[in-house]
Amino acid sequence: MKRLVVFTGAGMSADSGLATFRDADGLWANYRIEDVCTPEALARNRALVIRFYNERRREMLRCEPNAGHRAIAALERDFDVDVLTQNVDDLHERAGSTRVTHLHGELRKLRSTANPDLIVPIEGWEQPLDARASDGSLLRPHIVFFGESVPMFERAAEIAARAEIMVVVGTSLAVYPAASLVRYVRPGVPIYLVDPGNPDTCGIRNPLTVIRKRASEGVPELAGLLRRTFADK
Ligand code: APR
Repeated sequence: MKRLVVFTGAGMSADSGLATFRDADGLWANYRIEDVCTPEALARNRALVIRFYNERRREMLRCEPNAGHRAIAALERDFDVDVLTQNVDDLHERAGSTRVTHLHGELRKLRSTANPDLIVPIEGWEQPLDARASDGSLLRPHIVFFGESVPMFERAAEIAARAEIMVVVGTSLAVYPAASLVRYVRPGVPIYLVDPGNPDTCGIRNPLTVIRKRASEGVPELAGLLRRTFADK
């Protein structure tokens, strides 16, 4: 089976009802990053940050995977698939994808503020403001804030470097280091991009095929193309 790497962003979950970040009605049009998605914000106004991620979690639990998530999960029948996602929702997993690497954290986890390796699952949507980890420290969302390191990037880059096909869905390719993953694929490896908008593809040096459609329509269409082109070859 060919190794297929699928790199996704917020647009992947838009058709499930979750807001993206940089579209006109996106999260960053309604919240300031420095108020809800930086270590300084957590230190300065913990309640606002916890409430922001509680709301994201509540919305996630109300949503279902869309046809794009399901098509990616079904590709595991014909390809050796790894999903590298910038998304913090669990829709890829709920759709059935079995190898998902979250570059920017996961809404369904919290972590100690004293030990980043002490990570705990959260049931339901609400993190109580004063919830503490077993080490006694206050818990925080297991989310990579702006200005923080991206611990999973090295692993993701190794996976991208092994890809024989890369699919990119629903990311503006505006945030680094995640966006640089398109440059870790070996020369000649074909890249297929599904997005109704205009992501920043200037960093892509490989053969590029663009499907200018929403994920729920474009990804199932692309899955058919990939099977016809590469499966069992
Ligand atoms: N289907 C597919 N793509 C879509 C859809 C859709 N229905 N709707 C919008 N898009 C596309 C947009 O055209 C855009 O290219 O999804 C992309 C969303 O871009 P962003 O909002 O910037 O989201 P993303 O690229 O995931 O942001 C990266 O930035 O704020 C940080 O940590 C956050 O992981 C996030 C990172």
